[in-house]
Amino acid sequence: MCGIVGYVGTDQSVEVLLGGLRRLEYRGYDSAGIAVIDPLGRLGTRKRAGKLQVLIDDLEANPLANGATGIGHTRWATHGGPNDENAHPHLGDEGRLALIHNGIIENFAELKAELLLRHPATVFTSETDSEVAALLVGLEYQKTHDLSLALRTVVGRLNGAFTLLVLHKDQPGVVVGARRNSPLVIGLGDGENFLGSDVAAFIEHTHRAMEIGQDQVVTITPDSVTVTDFAGRPVETREFQVEWDASASEKGGWSSFMAKEISEEPVAVANTLIGRIVDGAVHLPELDTLGAGVLEGLDRIVLIGCGTAAYSAMLGKYAIEKWAKIPVDVELSHEFRYRDPVVSERTLVVSISQSGETMDTLMAVKYARELGARTLSICNTQGSTIPRESDAVVYTHAGPEVAVASTKAFVAQVAAIYLFALRVAEVRGTLAASEIASLLGELGAVPDQLAWVLEQQDSIKQLAGWMTDTRSVIFLGRHAGYPIALEGALKLKEVAYIHSEGFAAGELKHGPIALIEPGQPVFVIVPSPRAKDSLHKKVVSNIQEIRARGARILAIAEEGDVAVLPYADTVIRIPLASTLFEPLLAVVPLHIFAMELASAKGLDVDQPRNLAKSVTVE
Ligand code: AGP
Repeated sequence: MCGIVGYVGTDQSVEVLLGGLRRLEYRGYDSAGIAVIDPLGRLGTRKRAGKLQVLIDDLEANPLANGATGIGHTRWATHGGPNDENAHPHLGDEGRLALIHNGIIENFAELKAELLLRHPATVFTSETDSEVAALLVGLEYQKTHDLSLALRTVVGRLNGAFTLLVLHKDQPGVVVGARRNSPLVIGLGDGENFLGSDVAAFIEHTHRAMEIGQDQVVTITPDSVTVTDFAGRPVETREFQVEWDASASEKGGWSSFMAKEISEEPVAVANTLIGRIVDGAVHLPELDTLGAGVLEGLDRIVLIGCGTAAYSAMLGKYAIEKWAKIPVDVELSHEFRYRDPVVSERTLVVSISQSGETMDTLMAVKYARELGARTLSICNTQGSTIPRESDAVVYTHAGPEVAVASTKAFVAQVAAIYLFALRVAEVRGTLAASEIASLLGELGAVPDQLAWVLEQQDSIKQLAGWMTDTRSVIFLGRHAGYPIALEGALKLKEVAYIHSEGFAAGELKHGPIALIEPGQPVFVIVPSPRAKDSLHKKVVSNIQEIRARGARILAIAEEGDVAVLPYADTVIRIPLASTLFEPLLAVVPLHIFAMELASAKGLDVDQPRNLAKSVTVE
């Protein structure tokens, strides 16, 4: 969960590295550092605990000699606390080599012991696994003076997940990188080349990018890019054009990335739908790579994800079972990964991931393939690892999501999985063309409805301002409202650090109602009065039960729903929508509320404590 940048080109490494790290800081921000080879062949490094700004201020006060070769790193601590010594880069070959690392080297303790045995005078300056790798690469380099060979030799001995970048003072103009189960992409420039954890690292310099596959090594110089496997054999690479631009990942005048990204929820859904609804039918040619007849032959679908992505998966379950009549299970990736799930070639495992780098989900996808299942990725990040490990990918087009708390990606994920559900219904004939057209019409109306909900931002901000001393919040939802209750609770935990819990409303009487005491704030996602099986009436009676015990009711209810008025302290309105589309609208007030309450508490909504945007360690 760290941010990594590499650069070779002109004497501007410091600016390029810091600019890239700024765009990657959401991946981890407890320390940062850079290493640069200057025109005199000297290797300079600077690293500081704290956010990137601490390093930038230090460099302004005490500049590092600039140069044409550099690497940079922003860290989310795994081995060793967030302090100057444990920050990257780490050095090898008596300070002539610098290395940065994202991931976890699971066998670093054995390697460290072996190193000390072979070189008892070795001095470790940190507690990190990364420093062991730097020292090992330095020792290998001393044998051959071939930086790529030295790195390939060492990575062949590492277990776990890693992206490593190295440079050596005797090799100006060269940066070598290697990856296994951790992200790395190449930025292709003119007389300069880049490496990064994701395309945000170099998006302000180039839109041309190239993927690096599993267990591959890349060597960049200003005029060349060479990719091999760990044995040094050349491998096929694929170049792609990055669709979004640098400004898309800038705040653009918003108070936070989270505020900007909530405001983009309508366009995130609209862009995800573009080109995929044609003449009242679904157009998803990406699914063809699953193979002819696969969708028709499915007997089970498993939706996997973590956190917010798991909640969009829960909504997918309702949609696929209702429209496509296929049994669906939703599993947390890290649970699926260690179970003995019953899957076959007629099972489709659909992973949902904004970053495409969540290690728990990546390993679950690999496991599913080992078990013989087919795999589909629903992902928001081009060129990321999970789509590459899947049989097919349907990208959401929410644009870069920088805030740690996922918002626009969530609604885009739901839109994408609804398209998928309708496509499966189409090929299996479980819905008539007219029914599909009608449902696609409802899906197509969601962006405008989201814009309508966003207009209530001010009243929700006022509500949040009144609740800064809140110690706990409960969220209730029933049926498709239940995943929204879970999502609302997660957001409040993540950004406002308030203990929050989401419950299925029907579960209340089976225990959680004991939590209700006078003044306890309870958000209730109220189904449409037109929902089947009197869902609405049941939720209103849940509201009465907790109201009677003194709860403070904050109801999210459809326009015109008067049944909640006698019992709710606050009613937040959403437009009329049918049962499976209403959750897409009900989630927005909860995103806004969490952000506004965190802001009112003076917290950093974009980079909450202890978290990182992409959890690339298991
Ligand atoms: C959501 O706000 C959190 N940041 C987190 O739960 C996130 O959804 C989860 O880590 C999955 O990330 P992914 O979508 O990038 O796989």
